[in-house]
Amino acid sequence: MKIVKDKGVEGKVCVVTGAAGVLCSSMTEDLLKHGAKVAVLDLRGDVAKQFCAKLARPSSRSGSASTC
Ligand SMILES: NC(=O)c1ccc[n+]([C@@H]2O[C@H](COP(=O)([O-])OP(=O)(O)OC[C@H]3O[C@@H](n4cnc5c(N)ncnc54)[C@H](O)[C@@H]3O)[C@@H](O)[C@H]2O)c1
Repeated sequence: MKIVKDKGVEGKVCVVTGAAGVLCSSMTEDLLKHGAKVAVLDLRGDVAKQFCAKLARPSSRSGSASTC
């Protein structure tokens, strides 16, 4: 995602709402890829936690899930 690359998110903390959904899960993955730490917020807390668990597996990238 061009805007993520251009903004320089390395080391920054980003809060993504609706992050268990189609668009914002993709945005979350892109933010992590560019070095951000991401707070994953969604009404569907269980789905957000599953998403974070999936993200944590392949590498040391981190996300934290919360229900909001
Ligand atoms: N997917 C597309 O191609 C597309 C294209 C244009 C516009 N949109 C719009 O973008 C938005 C997101 O699309 P999507 O495909 O990711 O939808 P989605 O349904 O896959 O995901 C939306 C997520 O937001 C969460 N959510 C809803 N209300 C919330 C709240 N108050 N606080 C926290 N989380 C909340 C839901 O639980 C869900 O996980 C929608 O409004 C959609 O209409 C989507």
